Amino acid sequence: MARRLNPSAFNAWVYDHIDDYSHPLEVYYGGAGSGKSYGAMQKIILKALNARRKVLVVRKVGATLRDSVFQLALDLLRDAGIWRGCEVSRADMRIALPNGSLFVFKGLDDREKIKSITGITDMVLEEATELSEDDFTQLRLRLRPPEPDPQIYIMFNPVSKANWVYGYFFAHTPPAGTKIVQTTYKDNRFLPAEYAATLEELAARNPAYYRIYALGEFATLDKLVYPHAEKRLISAEETAGKKFWVGLDFGYVNDPSAIVWGYYDESDRTIYVTGEYVKTGMLNDEIAATIRQLGLQKEIVVADSAEQKSIEELRRAGITRIRPSKKGPDSVKHGVQWIGQCRLVVDERCIHTIEETENYTWRKDKKTGEYLNDPEDSFNHCLDAMRYGLQSVAGERRIRTMSKSILGL
Ligand SMILES: Nc1ncnc2c1ncn2[C@@H]1O[C@H](COP(=O)(O)OP(=O)(O)OP(=O)(O)O)[C@@H](O)[C@H]1O
Ligand SMILES: [Mg+2]
Repeated sequence: MARRLNPSAFNAWVYDHIDDYSHPLEVYYGGAGSGKSYGAMQKIILKALNARRKVLVVRKVGATLRDSVFQLALDLLRDAGIWRGCEVSRADMRIALPNGSLFVFKGLDDREKIKSITGITDMVLEEATELSEDDFTQLRLRLRPPEPDPQIYIMFNPVSKANWVYGYFFAHTPPAGTKIVQTTYKDNRFLPAEYAATLEELAARNPAYYRIYALGEFATLDKLVYPHAEKRLISAEETAGKKFWVGLDFGYVNDPSAIVWGYYDESDRTIYVTGEYVKTGMLNDEIAATIRQLGLQKEIVVADSAEQKSIEELRRAGITRIRPSKKGPDSVKHGVQWIGQCRLVVDERCIHTIEETENYTWRKDKKTGEYLNDPEDSFNHCLDAMRYGLQSVAGERRIRTMSKSILGL
């Protein structure tokens, strides 16, 4: 390698293979926060600095790339002092390096655009379990460069044995030339201690999630989506002075409308559900009156974005801080995953929410009999309202620990 690298900028398992490009497929899987995304981006940026490459970085939804690996690539380049020579288009999520190497970040939701990109020498597939096997096959076909050492880096958490990645890389011998690297938070010496602690807490909180996100192993999901829900009486003293999240799921004749609220304790990542109001046949003015009677009209209310018209009616009826839930492919999966990693305490008087937590299950894959990380669409009125409501507190909190010269240059 032409450049002299500083090993202290890397996790050992990244540094040890930093200039080995001999495997066409490199699979980085394991627990959360192990440094997979970081390591893969460090490696691919160094590869592109050493030779002229055209790198396509893909995730299922383009928007989720912007805050994650696109930003990470910019940070890495800035920190390495190469930033000035780069041409960056934030709008297109493109970065041209001084030597002419090009990084293009694209969501699969931009399929047509991906088709028009030619001469790709390398690919990085973030959260590959969000893709389908067919997506992967199609993407692989895009990699036919005249350049040497074409590679695909694939990253994911082992979310379900029913996911295509299990069949592809683990159930049988993986395709020739595949390197598989399994890591956990213990392999990431840069991880903030507090993040490691939250992963360790999963052992008691949610055993299946513990195996997946802490131990980085394929686990059979529990039948229930929220097996970790605890019920107890939450006293008025506990709730006093708390900032409430409020969620609203619309129903009418067959389905009830559900208003669910509570608070969130960031210090130990605990969700408290303290109240629910569930009723069929409610028109929007009745919903607005109910929110007022419950004394929740001053709170941010996050409501199902499928009903924009109802949301506007409620706003006009005085629920001024109402806003639509974030929707999009995989928003349910991301939401339930976030909730699954938190402690969940439901007041024992919230009988509908409790009934739903006892019946809200993962879908089952017919072929393998394994649970998919995709919930069934039933027993989810209160739980959807809760998921929406929590969007006002959860945000996309990323962990960042910027050390100097993280590219090791
Ligand atoms: N080489 C490094 N230098 C500095 N910080 C690092 C490095 N590698 C990882 N980190 C820190 O560890 C955190 C987790 O790393 P990263 O996001 O790459 O993990 P991951 O394995 O992709 O996690 P997930 O499974 O949740 O996607 C980063 O946000 C960063 O703070
Ligand atoms: Mg990652």
